[in-house]
Amino acid sequence: MALLLDGNAVSKAVQERIAGEFEKVKSSGQKPGLAVVLVGDNPASVVYVGRKKKACETLGFFSEEYRLPTETPEGELLGLVQKLNQDAKIHGILVQLPLPGHLNPQKVIETIDPRKDVDGMHPFSLGKLVAGLPGLRSCTPAGVMAMLEHYKISPAGKRAVVIGRSIMVGKPMAQLLIEANATVTVCHSKTKDIGAVIREADLVVAAIGRPRFVTADMVKEGAVVVDVGINRTAEGKLVGDVDFDAIAPKASAITPVPGGVGPMTIALLMKNTYQAFLEQTQNRG
Ligand code: GUN
Repeated sequence: MALLLDGNAVSKAVQERIAGEFEKVKSSGQKPGLAVVLVGDNPASVVYVGRKKKACETLGFFSEEYRLPTETPEGELLGLVQKLNQDAKIHGILVQLPLPGHLNPQKVIETIDPRKDVDGMHPFSLGKLVAGLPGLRSCTPAGVMAMLEHYKISPAGKRAVVIGRSIMVGKPMAQLLIEANATVTVCHSKTKDIGAVIREADLVVAAIGRPRFVTADMVKEGAVVVDVGINRTAEGKLVGDVDFDAIAPKASAITPVPGGVGPMTIALLMKNTYQAFLEQTQNRG
């Protein structure tokens, strides 16, 4: 049976480390500030935004939540982001995705001051990632790397297969794995014989958004399996992109859903917010 990669425990450990660091600079009176913007009332987004706010409270960070109606005009959302860019109490801005269809997510992301881009999705942050320069990294892929590091699972020399090529997960995930010396293949909806490609992998990261897409026959014995997906079945059950029950007996390590990658995303958002805070407060002298 595979080692269970416990996202709740590792997320807690990461956040305790951040709390320890923050403790050392608390006497300055300044605290990290995160603004979370949610447009509309997508039920999953409401839950995620609530968790982000709670994590800020637990760490003693300042947080603001902006709930805007679904029909908010683009100009209004961009105006809010520009206002937050200028707000000295705010060091990180996160606009929860997906946005309602009439809003262009790329335009919104590009309006965020790159120094406050705690989601790591601004082209400036993505460019730094590809260039191998320090910077803010997308929270979910960075969370996966922190999880692997915690369990001392080194990607170096491994064949890694990332399933999905989104800007938020797949592409930055592949880049971080390259940086960690894995040999990386990215699969997507147009990949031919995807099962055969996944079967080559020592490390599988599934981020496709299709319930139980990865089946046991696609996974090599002893592979490490990381499941980024969160899908709700017709029966209302939360399941990942991986068929956990069938794959766990043959994997060497696997993340559960829920309680795997999800909590790591929150921990890395706190880490990014803290990093953005340090950089902005140090530069202001
Ligand atoms: N929606 C689901 N996960 C995320 C995330 O990490 N950041 C943003 N902005 N939206 C999301």
